[in-house]
Amino acid sequence: MAPRAAPGDRWVYHDGDFLRAGEVRLGPGTQGLHYGTGVFEGIRAYLDPRVSCLHILKAAEHYRRMLDSALLLRLRIDHTAQELVDITGELLRRSEHRGDVYIRPLAYKLALEPGTAFGVRLRGVSTGLTILSMPMGDYIPRSGIRCAVASWRRIPGSSLPARAKITGGYASNALAVDEATAAGYDDAILLNQRGEVAEASTANVFIVSGGRVVTPGADADLLEGITRAIAIEILRDETGIQTEQRAVARCELYSADEIFLTGTGCQIVPVTEIDGRPVGSRRTGPLTERVRAVYNQAVRGRDPRYQHWLTPVQLERPPPRPRDPAGHGGSARANDPAPRQPGTAGARS
Ligand SMILES: Cc1ncc(COP(=O)(O)O)c(C=O)c1O
Repeated sequence: MAPRAAPGDRWVYHDGDFLRAGEVRLGPGTQGLHYGTGVFEGIRAYLDPRVSCLHILKAAEHYRRMLDSALLLRLRIDHTAQELVDITGELLRRSEHRGDVYIRPLAYKLALEPGTAFGVRLRGVSTGLTILSMPMGDYIPRSGIRCAVASWRRIPGSSLPARAKITGGYASNALAVDEATAAGYDDAILLNQRGEVAEASTANVFIVSGGRVVTPGADADLLEGITRAIAIEILRDETGIQTEQRAVARCELYSADEIFLTGTGCQIVPVTEIDGRPVGSRRTGPLTERVRAVYNQAVRGRDPRYQHWLTPVQLERPPPRPRDPAGHGGSARANDPAPRQPGTAGARS
């Protein structure tokens, strides 16, 4: 197997060029560093080794959200969502990834333009744009995680709109995670200023109770996750369940049959304990398992219903085939669904 590139040797897209990460120079005056005036996305691409193809999940949706976030901060990104998808495809091809990938586009306030006075400002400051990609498989145990409700509340939309992924806002999420992990938990659930459930540190929350599924509504000061929309669609298609989107009281967490989180990083993850109380049987519940199973097939291009979620990126050098347990050298199994012919990045979505 090809050795993984060291972080400094990885390809990045930076202000119009493809460079090695170690060649990128950002000055200590970079405005986004000082004031948190940047926006970012987290995007996953999943490898289908049978056809040497990485599938970028909901690529255009992520970039549309980033462009919307950028408008709020007057960041100037001179690309359409489709152009950003195409740039990402090129980045993935150059990077010769051999497994699943995490993509991190970041746009930030760079430097005061001539004639702009010193200060916390959005106008008269140039924009930087960098896109990184790195290997990333599942990093959360399949068996689930334990969460604590944070004493830190979600920043209200009246102070910083939650629907924009603004770098500075994540200092608050970091405080909440720090508190939860110091107390021995894996992640924090944040309440909004009204004391209702908002979201986890980087994921949305779903509660299953008496056969109903509930998730906090878009007005609860949360980021309307792209994985949240995926889970709602899977639940509807697979079970006919319409997810209720409404205010969720903290105490509903304590009586839930199942709780799961959705997010690009964590994917679909069961929560087995909240504030020292077991969730259901403390095991992954049946609805959570079903959503996760469909998600896992769909993101690798194995569910024809959801092909339109994916942007295929054909790798030039195929990754090594995994060995099958019978030792036949890892060829695709005869009963695997037929792989679809991948096109090029940006051909769909
Ligand atoms: C605060 C917050 N909420 C929710 C999510 C889940 O969003 P998505 O499913 O689009 O990754 C994220 C991750 O991006 C996040 O940072």
